[in-house]
Amino acid sequence: MEKIIDESKQGEALVLDQNQQNTKKLFIESYGCQMNFSDSEIVASILADQGYNTTNELEDADLVLVNTCSIRDKAEQTVRKRLEKYNAVKKINPGMKIGVLGCMAERLKAKFLEEEKMVDLVVGPDAYKDLPNLLDEVEEGRDAINVILSKEETYGDIAPVRLNSNGVTAFVSITRGCDNMCTFCVVPFTRGRERSRDPQSIIEEVNDLALKGFKEVTLLGQNVDSYLWYGGGLKKDFDKATDIQKVTAVNFANLLELCAKAQPKMRFRFSTSNPQDMTLDVIEVMAKYDNICKYIHLPVQSGSNSILKAMNRQHTREEYFELIDNIKQIIPDIGLSQDMISGFPGETEADHQDTLSLMEYVKYDFGFMFAYSERPGTLAARKLEDDIPLETKKRRLQEIINLQQKHSAYRTNAVVGKTVEILIEKASKKSDQHWSGRTTQNTVAVFPKEHYKVGDFVNVKITDCTSTTLIGEAVGYSDNQPQTI
Ligand code: SAH
Ligand code: F3S
Repeated sequence: MEKIIDESKQGEALVLDQNQQNTKKLFIESYGCQMNFSDSEIVASILADQGYNTTNELEDADLVLVNTCSIRDKAEQTVRKRLEKYNAVKKINPGMKIGVLGCMAERLKAKFLEEEKMVDLVVGPDAYKDLPNLLDEVEEGRDAINVILSKEETYGDIAPVRLNSNGVTAFVSITRGCDNMCTFCVVPFTRGRERSRDPQSIIEEVNDLALKGFKEVTLLGQNVDSYLWYGGGLKKDFDKATDIQKVTAVNFANLLELCAKAQPKMRFRFSTSNPQDMTLDVIEVMAKYDNICKYIHLPVQSGSNSILKAMNRQHTREEYFELIDNIKQIIPDIGLSQDMISGFPGETEADHQDTLSLMEYVKYDFGFMFAYSERPGTLAARKLEDDIPLETKKRRLQEIINLQQKHSAYRTNAVVGKTVEILIEKASKKSDQHWSGRTTQNTVAVFPKEHYKVGDFVNVKITDCTSTTLIGEAVGYSDNQPQTI
């Protein structure tokens, strides 16, 4: 999921509305996936109860927390640079405490405290509720660590504070962990086994967001299609559930429908889908409700059957095509995006060509593409030699990116001349005279501000485009816009 967060937001200090009574200052920044950004909102909520307000001035902070990503080596290097920076500031402000959260905390555990001596506090993704105790330990001059992974923790009972929010779009997490064990991926090790959050608490959070004026919610999980609530516990233990739990279980299609019905004026998105778990009932629910966005992020990683097998992706190229055909048949105007990895161990030129031809078949709207990065502890690292030279990985990656750019341009060009509904999120990065928002297919559109405001649903006539952005002019409010003036 790492890539879906706007690059410009990576590492940006997160600030929330301040509580007047709080006296301590927290500087918290996040790297990596949407789930990390969402988790930081949970952490800020827990710490607000401990007397902390957030600050975006590193130098002012009493506590500095960095929520980290381990997905590729480069992500870890970025965090290390930040830790060096914090430590330089700590030399001037010795009272400042530094903590590392998230996937790197989980992966490197006590190493951070013992060998690297760069932090005072190490907290894994399932241990944030222990932060008050851990901070007490730090105050008493001890290093503090909790990296225990949980079978139950979903933070369903914590109302996240919304950090750096535009007040329009929000993330709501619905599952934690992942059981898929793709051989290249570190997530099952850093985030533990998959568990689903109580649907009641999800709907309550959605309703609360609607009350606060939010207009779009993205349901988050490493693998949302495998959401399954049967009263708590791990997904893999569902077999042991009682008969009543089994018949009353809520799956992802049910949850999506509950959300769509609970707030018919709110848009719903979800991320990430996994081809092996995406079922037709999810696609049918998407088609049934206008307020479920017509967009699926459907990572495939490779177009080659032998590489898919080596990656332990539980589907073939042919099954993926069948899924794409079904999606396009049920939702003809669907927006699709991909994740691809170039240079997985053993990848031949023919395998790479299979990836390009798969892309040609689907013609994704956009994608997130990476060169394979071996992650310690994963099955691929233990069993397969990282044998594709960096030059080859990079060249194949560039070919994948070039093809994606062509397809993105094909997709955006197809919208020129049409009128599409946009939810206004913020000012355009390039011009403060323009608004920026997204279509239901998740494509960014920009247009002159006129009298419209952030949070409005407007119809925009698209007159031009780049490969990534639609350009147009508003022609009025859309039907979804509440008519209370
Ligand atoms: N299911 C998750 C996937 C998380 S990882 C989700 O919610 O998106 C995000 C993407 O990072 C993966 O889809 C994959 O394309 C890429 N990735 C994961 N491990 C990688 C590795 N070892 N090297 C290169 N890219 C990797
Ligand atoms: Fe990683 Fe595969 Fe899960 S990419 S997060 S193990 S679906």
